[in-house]
Amino acid sequence: MALVNVREMMKKAEREHYAVGHFNINNLEWTKAILQVAEETRTPVILGVSEGAVKYMCGFKVVADMVKAMVEGLKITVPVALHLDHGSYDGAKAALEAGFSSVMFDGSHYPIEENIQKTKEIIAYANSLGCTVEAEVGAIGGEEDGVIGAGEVADPNECATVASLGVDILAAGIGNIHGKYPSNWKGLDFEALAKIKEAVGNMPLVLHGGTGIPADMIKKAISLGVCKINVNTECQLAFQEETRKYIEAGKDLQGKGFDPRKLLAPGCEGIKRVVREKMELFGSLGKAE
Ligand code: 13P
Repeated sequence: MALVNVREMMKKAEREHYAVGHFNINNLEWTKAILQVAEETRTPVILGVSEGAVKYMCGFKVVADMVKAMVEGLKITVPVALHLDHGSYDGAKAALEAGFSSVMFDGSHYPIEENIQKTKEIIAYANSLGCTVEAEVGAIGGEEDGVIGAGEVADPNECATVASLGVDILAAGIGNIHGKYPSNWKGLDFEALAKIKEAVGNMPLVLHGGTGIPADMIKKAISLGVCKINVNTECQLAFQEETRKYIEAGKDLQGKGFDPRKLLAPGCEGIKRVVREKMELFGSLGKAE
């Protein structure tokens, strides 16, 4: 199945009150693990790639070609979107050119007027290629590719302005943070989320920083209009934990345990476990049908 943009996925999620998981990829193994779980469980999925991960994987074309070939090679039949995460203006254009089916243009650090102008240009280019666009209002806290955001709650009027430009999905800061949540984290601001939803109507909302948000908060966020939830760190932690166990048990020293296909396998199982759990929690499991 060819890559899809997120439009239909989001409409169905909005209608049926669940959220599609966006899982960040870092390499071939990561991509394979996520695609396999999606296919096994008949679940739509969004593969997110940050510009840092794109650089690591040697460029937009390598990523787009790898994902497309893998979807074909693994005979994936569920909807898969390849989405640039926190794209810059130039990065979003390059991703679209290379064959990504969706991009996030993160213009949240520009003054609102400039964010609007640049967002419009990216929307026009994306739509001309049949691709979708996510925009962000209000910074998401924490660290993403070395950029530390303090985390600010989005202004509902700004959300309405950006939503009206023709974006397909909107990420709005509601106290969410990338990476692990500190012990004194106040939780998601549901009052702000409800106001944002009221201001943007049926625009599907995106929740970044999906790692470590308690299940009840995830469910409440979905009930208030969140249709896409981004998860990155939790897969990395599961990969690290399983790889550590393998090495600490001395398995890399036994037989051909040093073979990368063996060495990386437990970590990949860790990623799969997290992806499965999140899909279930988000209510998207089996929603490809
Ligand atoms: P976490 O790393 O906190 O899961 O956040 C992922 C994310 O929001 C990517 O955009």
